[in-house]
Amino acid sequence: MIQFFTIREITGYLKEKQLQNRSIGFVPTMGALHEGHLTLIRQSKSENDLTVCSIFVNPVQFNNKEDLEKYPRDLARDYKMLEETGCDILFSPENKEMYPDNQPEPLDLEFGMLDKVMEGKFRPGHFKGVAIVVKKLFGIIHPTRAYFGKKDFQQLAVIRHLVHSLEIPVIIVPCDTIREPDGLAMSSRNMRLTVTERQTAPIIHHVLCKVKEKAGILPVPELKAWAVRKIEENGKMHVEYFEICDKEHLLPIENWDRKENAVAFTAVFLGTVRLIDNIELFS
Ligand code: PAF
Repeated sequence: MIQFFTIREITGYLKEKQLQNRSIGFVPTMGALHEGHLTLIRQSKSENDLTVCSIFVNPVQFNNKEDLEKYPRDLARDYKMLEETGCDILFSPENKEMYPDNQPEPLDLEFGMLDKVMEGKFRPGHFKGVAIVVKKLFGIIHPTRAYFGKKDFQQLAVIRHLVHSLEIPVIIVPCDTIREPDGLAMSSRNMRLTVTERQTAPIIHHVLCKVKEKAGILPVPELKAWAVRKIEENGKMHVEYFEICDKEHLLPIENWDRKENAVAFTAVFLGTVRLIDNIELFS
């Protein structure tokens, strides 16, 4: 695996590959890699000539300074995992490389409700920050395909909107959420759970599975209230939101009229760790 730290070096290298018409698969990450990321790398490898992974903890997408400081970082460990998975190129720039003078390029793009509901409501500015860095990374890598996990379903919707609105020539490939054997969605944040919190965390996925069973049977408001009660029942978790939305516009649905598009989303605090998960209710 070749590692690049600067934009000049990676663009020079990739330009040559692009001239040879090699397809480039891209997996953007913030490091603290886990099996979920490695699955994206493997899928990219199977569909492209070259696979690039970026590791950059993007300060612009953190609305909470403490969350940014606590974000797990271990580049040596990540490097090893990527190399063992057969990733071809790692791009791991410093802040000043991505944002010289601490100045991210402004992004003049509206996301409608996509960046205002759920994660957007509780993490103001988060998706704008994600869009700024992803646009910049796409401009550096010029990937043929870019891979994103459905665990961050709303992020995927924001990125699709970005790519569509700015006509960025890249195929966005959504990938299924990878789970631990007990159902917990893999996330870099899981590393911050204590042993007992880790034992409690799978309840989130179990409740989402029950919600899928009850979807279309119980009225939407009743089902949402039931889910919140179930997650909070043991007194260890606090639900920040539990929503059932349509998967295209991410707007809350009130009934099951267009149920085939319904997805349940939740964000839950377990101690100080905030976990998100979702489930498509009719697929
Ligand atoms: O999903 C992530 O890890 C980040 O939001 C991303 C897409 C790498 C942008 O910083």
